[in-house]
Amino acid sequence: MQWHVKIDIPFVLLADDPIRGIIVTTLSIIVLVILVFVITFPHTHQFLSTKSRWIIDAKSGQRVKLTCVNWPGHLRPMIPEGLQKKPLKDIVENVTSMGFNCVRLTWATYMFTRAAYTNLTVAQSLDRLNLKAANAGVAENNPQLLDLTLIDCQEAVINELGAHDIMVVLDNHVSQPEWCCSDNDGNGFFGDTYFRPKEWLKGLTMVAKRYKHNPSVVAMSMRNELRGPRQKREAWYQYIQEGATAIQLENPKVLVIVSGLSFETDLSFLKKKPLRLSLNTKLVYEAHWYAFGDPPEKWLFQTNQFCASITQWFMSQSGFVLGGENPAPLFLSEFGKDQRGANEPENRYFSCLMATVAERDIDWAYWGLQGSYMLREGQVEFEEPYGLFDANWENARNSTFLDRLQLVLKMTQGPKSKDSRYYVIYHPQSGQCLQADRGNVSATNCHHWSLWSHDGDGSPIWLRRNSGCLAAVGDGQSAVVTTNCSSQQSLWRHVSSSKLHLAAKDDQGRDLCLEWNSSNSTIVTKKCVCLGDDLNDVPWCSEDPTRQWFKLISTNKR
Ligand SMILES: *[C@@H]1O[C@H](CO)[C@@H](O)[C@H](O)[C@H]1NC(C)=O
Ligand SMILES: *[C@@H]1O[C@H](CO)[C@@H](O)[C@H](O)[C@H]1NC(C)=O
Ligand SMILES: *[C@@H]1O[C@H](CO)[C@@H](O)[C@H](O)[C@H]1NC(C)=O
Ligand SMILES: *[C@@H]1O[C@H](CO)[C@@H](O)[C@H](O)[C@H]1NC(C)=O
Ligand SMILES: *[C@@H]1O[C@H](CO)[C@@H](O)[C@H](O)[C@H]1NC(C)=O
Ligand SMILES: *[C@@H]1O[C@H](CO)[C@@H](O)[C@H](O)[C@H]1NC(C)=O
Ligand SMILES: *[C@@H]1O[C@H](CO)[C@@H](O)[C@H](O)[C@H]1NC(C)=O
Repeated sequence: MQWHVKIDIPFVLLADDPIRGIIVTTLSIIVLVILVFVITFPHTHQFLSTKSRWIIDAKSGQRVKLTCVNWPGHLRPMIPEGLQKKPLKDIVENVTSMGFNCVRLTWATYMFTRAAYTNLTVAQSLDRLNLKAANAGVAENNPQLLDLTLIDCQEAVINELGAHDIMVVLDNHVSQPEWCCSDNDGNGFFGDTYFRPKEWLKGLTMVAKRYKHNPSVVAMSMRNELRGPRQKREAWYQYIQEGATAIQLENPKVLVIVSGLSFETDLSFLKKKPLRLSLNTKLVYEAHWYAFGDPPEKWLFQTNQFCASITQWFMSQSGFVLGGENPAPLFLSEFGKDQRGANEPENRYFSCLMATVAERDIDWAYWGLQGSYMLREGQVEFEEPYGLFDANWENARNSTFLDRLQLVLKMTQGPKSKDSRYYVIYHPQSGQCLQADRGNVSATNCHHWSLWSHDGDGSPIWLRRNSGCLAAVGDGQSAVVTTNCSSQQSLWRHVSSSKLHLAAKDDQGRDLCLEWNSSNSTIVTKKCVCLGDDLNDVPWCSEDPTRQWFKLISTNKR
């Protein structure tokens, strides 16, 4: 998208009065620069590239953080979900108002490569599946889409997102349109029943070509959740190379997102044999992190220990790409939880995960936006408990959930933040941040926070630009900011294997941990719970330590 600004600089004034002329000219130039910046800046996302582990704006070099929500369009109807429930514009406005700057829009290869699908209109696709209510719903809410082909409908969605400055990551989710993913669904790995490598390459090429002049499409992810009995590393290197080349040939501007093996949980083989692509500044890796398959009793009774080990596992399987000799960006492109909150193991997983996402300021995409699916696994109007929308795509499924994302919706770090010595104190269970108001400490929604500094275990946590520091007063009492920073009540240490408990000693020498009190949203100090859940002699802890989980998040943002 090109923007032209025409501004007449009043040079003529120079003739009358040199000083006035210089002032006016200078002011005009400043106005011009500001205007050009304001008008072009939101539309420069199209040129994203990478620098070390950061995704940046190719022109300005500033970091651009992807804070996305997944929006599926790869199921059998091949229509982005929800268009049968609400006008496209309303859905997109909600995406904006919820705070996301990006959508990971999923698509199926066959929609582009098979004539039987490419020629279908939205109405025909729904008729074919006998989805009468969905058809009537689209007719009512989005009549302009009904007679578009499926691909044109996808483009209409992308254009609407673009009109609201929402970036789009196009994710090749499956070959045959279908709910994803299992080991034996024929869509898992190159050579599976429906997953023909040549056809996949053709699909990637067609998508890259179709959107190469569309600035909203900032990235293409090559394939979702490679998996199954056929998966092999050698084949992975070969096809990832071919896919990346195919995309780049058509569209050298777009970011190319690469996933690993085993349902997008394993990139560890890259440590031994790096991927040698000529992508330079366009390569981003992606990973998924869910609680699926985790033993629930581990999350329930050994919460600290399990969080520590699962975090270590994630970092060694995927997160390591952020560091090392050749750092690259990592896009956590799926994670999510049941919004109803009744799945307690999953609640704890989510707090654990949020601590890592915030700590590293990782780019991410929540799964998912959809309150329901037109048709999933044979069921019409399948409700999605992980969805941000309720089943009618009307209200938030859980109004408190978005509060938990407030810090990670913001950018706290960036290419220049290495020298930052300041921290936000973050409570992942609530998604809140600590704020000091004179002597009092409270938990806020992370639109504001206090900056703290800390030189490591056993030292005070100082309030920036203040001689005060965080201190424990006593068991069950509010944490305070004090000026007496030499006592043991203001010397803090990480005391559990998850490194998420922060403790100071009270005047009797007993450990007191920071704790969030949900009933009045204050920060108190209490006896630490479940510290020893990694020790053999205390194998079970029946309390919930996540209310005592805090993370110091390094930041360069004030
Ligand atoms: C699809 O549409 C194109 C253009 O209208 C037409 O040439 C082609 O024959 C159609 N293919 C099928 C399989 O219907
Ligand atoms: C929203 O989530 C919270 C926290 O998990 C839970 O306590 C609450 O019951 C949920 N509300 C609804 C309406 O599901
Ligand atoms: C979506 O926007 C509408 C209109 O502003 C609003 O009524 C509704 O609550 C929003 N839904 C969500 C989930 O934000
Ligand atoms: C600190 O909090 C207490 C109790 O909520 C309140 O009475 C007091 O005024 C607060 N002090 C300051 C300095 O805000
Ligand atoms: C909240 O509860 C804590 C602990 O019970 C108490 O010390 C504090 O004064 C309360 N704060 C407010 C603002 O009510
Ligand atoms: C600071 O704390 C120490 C240890 O608790 C105490 O001995 C000292 O009196 C305190 N000083 C002030 C000024 O409160
Ligand atoms: C939280 O604070 C409330 C109000 O001050 C208090 O009644 C309650 O006992 C506190 N909860 C915990 C777990 O300390």
